[in-house]
Amino acid sequence: MRIKLTINKKKRVYEGAPFKRLIDVLRENYELTGTKEGCGEGECGACTVLVDGDPVNSCLIPVAQMNGRRIETVESLGTPKSLHRLQESFLREGGAQCGICTPGMLMSAWAWISRGGSARPSEIRRALAGNLCRCTGYQHIVNSVIKIIKERKRESRTK
Ligand code: FES
Ligand code: FES
Repeated sequence: MRIKLTINKKKRVYEGAPFKRLIDVLRENYELTGTKEGCGEGECGACTVLVDGDPVNSCLIPVAQMNGRRIETVESLGTPKSLHRLQESFLREGGAQCGICTPGMLMSAWAWISRGGSARPSEIRRALAGNLCRCTGYQHIVNSVIKIIKERKRESRTK
């Protein structure tokens, strides 16, 4: 099957098995190994990527459903040499510890931030409810997100 999709702003044509999971296509066909597999059953959110701006579990989606869709993975944020400000914030606040949940957490958080989501901790927790973390107790993650939302608000006021 031939599927046209956009991954991290690059147009791609996938040719292969239609039921291959999106996470496997990203990791194996396009070497985007930032997306991690945790449970493989749609429970943990480690594999979260954005599809047309919405967070989805890439372990549950067959690539056949991606024709014409826009996919963003954690590689769309920053690079090891030039981290995205949200990644820097996770680093500063201790929002990443073992790091298994981190790529998915970053993508869900970025979806929330880029939609203009509020800095209220309860709402951030709700936005990240599909992403499980066994290390941080969530508070550091929430703090990382609050910092960025507040920074962005300050910046938009001074423009
Ligand atoms: S690996 Fe996809 S939700 Fe857990
Ligand atoms: S940092 Fe370890 S699971 Fe979240």
